[in-house]
Amino acid sequence: MDTLNITNGDIILEFSYLLSALFFVVGLKLLSSPDSARRGNLWAAAGMLLAMIATMILHRDSNGGTIQAGNLIIILVAIAFGGVIGAVIARKIKMTAMPQLVSFFNATGGAASALVALIEFSNPDNQSALVTLLGLVIGSIAFSGSMIAYGKLNGNIKDIFSKLMTYINLLILLGLVIMVVVLLTSDMPLESKQLLVYVLLAVSLIYGVSFVMPIGGADMPVVISLLNSFTGIAAAMAGFIYHNQAMILGGIFVGAAGMILTILMCKAMNRSLINVVIGAFGGGGAAVDREKGTVKEVSATDAAVMLNYSSKVVIVPGYGLAVAQAQHICSEMAQLLEDNGVEVKYAIHPVAGRMPGHMNVLLAEADVPYDKLVEMDEINPEMPKTDVAVVIGANDVVNPAALDDPSSPIYGMPIIKVHEAKNVIVMKRGMGKGYAAIENYLFYADNTRMFFGSAKDSLQKLVNEIKAL
Ligand code: TAP
Repeated sequence: MDTLNITNGDIILEFSYLLSALFFVVGLKLLSSPDSARRGNLWAAAGMLLAMIATMILHRDSNGGTIQAGNLIIILVAIAFGGVIGAVIARKIKMTAMPQLVSFFNATGGAASALVALIEFSNPDNQSALVTLLGLVIGSIAFSGSMIAYGKLNGNIKDIFSKLMTYINLLILLGLVIMVVVLLTSDMPLESKQLLVYVLLAVSLIYGVSFVMPIGGADMPVVISLLNSFTGIAAAMAGFIYHNQAMILGGIFVGAAGMILTILMCKAMNRSLINVVIGAFGGGGAAVDREKGTVKEVSATDAAVMLNYSSKVVIVPGYGLAVAQAQHICSEMAQLLEDNGVEVKYAIHPVAGRMPGHMNVLLAEADVPYDKLVEMDEINPEMPKTDVAVVIGANDVVNPAALDDPSSPIYGMPIIKVHEAKNVIVMKRGMGKGYAAIENYLFYADNTRMFFGSAKDSLQKLVNEIKAL
């Protein structure tokens, strides 16, 4: 844009971008707590709406012209089309399928940034070749990687574990770097460069697939968050191409937030990011020889007595609680116990369920006060003093193999140490495995009693029994 010819419109546009950036910051701040997260989303969405409207009305191209009416109509139709599809999908999606939805939406963001870079590479006005190529590569990887993550979470695509993939991936990565360097430094004709850009696009898409393919199922939350961060970075690159502050800032916020979440999840699993990315989660050590023991069941009456006459109970919710939609009845049971003088806390594992914060969202729906939700690191030291740990539809996040079986695929993941409680009641439908598809010896332990049934029915029975005591 010609800086010598700044109009009032340009000033208002820049000011609108600044304002939308402030909205994003407020939105992010509010998103950091479950009780304000909904408002946070609205603030961030309002910031994006402001940036979009201001751009459509006030943006000027290098010749000083605003967006032509014909193009404006195309933009509005595209927004309406995408907006309606997005809203319908988001309304219909089940809470448990949220990670798939996030992956899918993330893929579209990556694709949009890659397409912007692809088109703008041949634009003679574009002065930022490096940024354009990086946007193309990162956006394409985010797109194909997110689509594979979507397929894996949906159960349509199986993991391919192979050390060979790590080396193949390193080779592809090297190929990508070489192509970017050649495109930036060589004085080959424009047609040849354009051809090479298409090869770069194809190889980036292949890399996204081969990068996500070998990553183990239990690591998918980390990968999704990482891909989210990639999409943010790609959007920021697209913002640099257009000198658009709102895109740059929005992209950087998403990139930084995604990266922070990725690192936090890695910390929660006691792993390095490299370890996650090369798919080296556990499974390499010697198997532990165990006596399986026997499964001991407990009746609703006995479980109710155990709980009602305890002084301290810790509830560990997991994916099964979400599937059964048993959060309300769970909260009712906790309330009954508290009314009867039992201290009740909820232990929250960072990757319980199928999305970050899944248990917090679920329990917030049932009006469980936030101070009752205790993080894994804080609750674990309290376990030996806990009379009964009630595991409701959780499996992997309480599997002691993560602590003591180097051959286990989840070895190294921190868990909620319910096995250290005086008694454990596990509520699930049968002996089904969890997300990582592995055996859980907790179910056979001496201090464990299994209470079989769907979580909602089982909790209803417990509530009835406790009321009758
Ligand atoms: P899981 O290990 O997935 O176990 C859930 C258990 O719930 C199953 O063993 C199942 O056993 C039981 N269940 C299913 N439906 C039920 C119902 N209606 N009533 C009662 N129980 C029911 O759950 P988790 O412990 O929460 O662990 C989460 C896993 O998902 C981890 O491996 C994690 O890495 C992975 N993951 C997490 C995320 C995020 S970000 N949270 C995203 C993707 C993957 P039955 O069939 O016997 O009932």
